[in-house]
This record gives sequence, structure tokens and C-alpha cells, in this order.
Amino acid sequence: MDPRQVAEHLRFYQEIGITGISAEAQWRAREGKPGGQARPTIWTLQSIREDIGDCTRCKLATLGRKQVVFGVGHPSAELMFVGEAPGADEDDQGVPFVGRAGQLLTKMIEAMGFARGDVYIANVVKCRPPENRNPEPDEIGSCEPFLFRQIETIKPKVIVALGAFAAKTLLHSQDPISKLRGHVHDYHGAKLIPTFHPSFLLRSPGQKKYAWEDLKKALALMDREPPVSAGSGPDA
Ligand code: URA
Repeated sequence: MDPRQVAEHLRFYQEIGITGISAEAQWRAREGKPGGQARPTIWTLQSIREDIGDCTRCKLATLGRKQVVFGVGHPSAELMFVGEAPGADEDDQGVPFVGRAGQLLTKMIEAMGFARGDVYIANVVKCRPPENRNPEPDEIGSCEPFLFRQIETIKPKVIVALGAFAAKTLLHSQDPISKLRGHVHDYHGAKLIPTFHPSFLLRSPGQKKYAWEDLKKALALMDREPPVSAGSGPDA
């Protein structure tokens, strides 16, 4: 493995709270996921949620958010979607992607042949930034370890990063989404596909065909094909 990948893995383990590694083969066994490379599960989603609590680790707690929006879906989903941060509807309901962008995401998921309950949906940042501004580096720094733990617990085969913000955060890259999308990235034993954020697709429906290409690529990585009814992808 190239030394940069080793460093990246060690950084990842540090971020999710692992302070040591073992040469024991059992430590590396990834239950039920051939070809995987992680270790036995340490957390449950519930224990991660409890650890977050009524979080005050960053200033978003004092800037008008109503609640922490943790994540929703199947606890061992093969497919996971990661967005940026909750908006007003999500902050009201405590569930990610339930507003207009969320409705489009639901159509995208259904066009792939899944129901929302089959996949897992989370955000990089779990509290709504005021006026829907971009999350700031200290806010990401406080919240990111919880996303990493969610991913480490769910062990999805494929992660779809929704928009530049999620893709850049997960990949620790400064490249624009136009450069990141169109490629399959390795992500700690999972495959990561960056695509456009549903909010962007609502503003630029002409880009939906590219997002659909990305989603079909995600399906292929799971040895699946889109249902015939999906046609040329989800409409608005
Ligand atoms: N946009 C996001 O990135 N996440 C949500 O939960 C809703 C809108």
C-alpha cells in the first residue's frame, strides 16, 4: 500500500477514536462483507447517537438550530448517501433530506430500485447552519468524527457523496466537484461516488442526466441494474 494511503488510514482510525491496531487476523475481519478490511464493530448507531447527545461541541448549538439531525435508514445499508447539513425542514423534523431537495433525493433512490428505508442517509454536519450558510471548518471538525463512526458502523459498500461539500470533506480534497465526479474513489473499504447535490439539480435540471450516470455507476458497483421503470432517471 502506498505510504499516503497508510497515513490516510491511520488518520481515519484516529478520527473515529481508535488509538491502537492489532496484528490479529480477527481484528481485520469484516463480518459478512467479503473483500472488506475493517475490524469488528465497536459502536452501534444508537451508541453514536447517545454520544452526540444534545451536542454543544460547536457554535451551531447556539445559532438557532432546533435539534441534532443524526441520520435515517437501514443500519447495515449497502448504499449510503451523505449530504452537507440539515436545512429548515430537516431541523424541524429531525430527519435528513425531507424538504424539496429531499423529495428529489427520494426519487433518485427510488429510480435506483430502492426505498428510502433500504439505504442510509446522513449529513457531514448534524446541525442546521444559520440561513443555510456553508458549515465552517470548526463545525466540520467537531461533527466529522460522528459521520466517520456512522460509516464505520453501517459499512456500506457504496457511498454517494451529494455535492461538493460532502465529496471534499470525505475525500479530504480541495478539487472541485466537476473534477471529483465521474470517478469511483476508494474510501476505507467502500467505494465512493461523488455526484451533484439534489438542491443544485433542482436549480439546474439539465445536470440530472449526469447525476443519473453516477447513480447507475453506484448500482453497477453493487452488481445491480436500474429497474426498467427508471427509464432515463428520476424527473423533477
Ligand atoms: N441538504 C443537505 O445537504 N442535507 C439535508 O439533510 C437537506 C438538505
